[in-house]
Amino acid sequence: MRKKITIVGSGNVGATAAHWMASKELGDIVLIDIIDGVPQGKGLDLLEAMPIEKRDSFVLGTQDYKDTANSDIVVITAGIPRKPGMSRDDLLNTNYKIMQDVVGKVVTNSPNCILIVVSNPLDAMAQAAYKISGFSRNRVIGMAGVLDSARFRAFIAMELGVSVENVTAFVLGGHGDTMVPLPRYSTVAGVPITELMEKSTIERLVQRTRDGGAEIVKYLKTGSAFYAPSAAVTEMAEAILKDKKKILPCAAYLEGEYGIHGLFVGVPCKLGSRGIEDVWEIRLTDEEMAALKKSADSVKELVAVVGV
Ligand SMILES: NC(=O)c1ccc[n+]([C@@H]2O[C@H](COP(=O)([O-])OP(=O)(O)OC[C@H]3O[C@@H](n4cnc5c(N)ncnc54)[C@H](O)[C@@H]3O)[C@@H](O)[C@H]2O)c1
Repeated sequence: MRKKITIVGSGNVGATAAHWMASKELGDIVLIDIIDGVPQGKGLDLLEAMPIEKRDSFVLGTQDYKDTANSDIVVITAGIPRKPGMSRDDLLNTNYKIMQDVVGKVVTNSPNCILIVVSNPLDAMAQAAYKISGFSRNRVIGMAGVLDSARFRAFIAMELGVSVENVTAFVLGGHGDTMVPLPRYSTVAGVPITELMEKSTIERLVQRTRDGGAEIVKYLKTGSAFYAPSAAVTEMAEAILKDKKKILPCAAYLEGEYGIHGLFVGVPCKLGSRGIEDVWEIRLTDEEMAALKKSADSVKELVAVVGV
């Protein structure tokens, strides 16, 4: 049986994720949205590209949650994106209401799925989805670290004039201004970037990574980034569907790891067919740990507002 992936929200991130996933033939894809015609039109358009791409992924656009039944993975991208001058946190109340609308319907139709949350503010929305779904913590994952790390990797590769394939990076913490890029664990061909660049250069790249989302919002004016975010969620879905046991930075519900209890925070996770199969507790310096705690505190403030 082919795998089944539902993507809730057929806007920029949702539709582009469907595009990446279909072109990788990860499974059959259901696109759903509240706007009548949008998922149907985009789904059909993508389906018609499959003969050219030589991929057997069936793509269906719908507004009926029955069509999403028994999905292996459900990606939630429903929600409003930010506009210039807005922070991700400004989306909290609107997107929380959307989460309340969506998660119950998803769970009723796909009780065994793994949920990947993309909607912002990411960590708080993942926490909302976790609480509303009643799923075990391995089955609710937030997407942020793969994107933030990819941005850092792109900037490192450009700075050093090397292939992006040579660059690995870790960005932990919440998906916001307090995210925690870890230069010591970021490498080029296995060599830590702290050996390859001046401290001031690293600081500049770290700051650009923190501002990576805002940089794109400023250009687009009417919405936020979607190519890299949707590629990031595709990498996570692939790791799960192919049981790759891949170590990726993801927002996970922590129960004591890194001294954090009962909160979604970005940490290195092993993704496989059971979702988050392990949380890696890597050794952090006092400074890095303090930055992670600060980031967790800002997630805590947000989840308190919506009471999850
Ligand atoms: N985690 C990350 O790193 C990351 C990165 C990029 C975007 N995002 C977030 O992802 C979300 C989507 O971004 P986008 O650029 O695709 O926005 P978009 O406006 O292009 O698409 C969002 C879609 O959600 C739909 N929607 C709204 N309410 C719904 C509901 N109740 N049920 C089903 N669909 C519903 C809208 O009709 C729209 O088509 C935003 O909240 C954005 O901030 C997160």
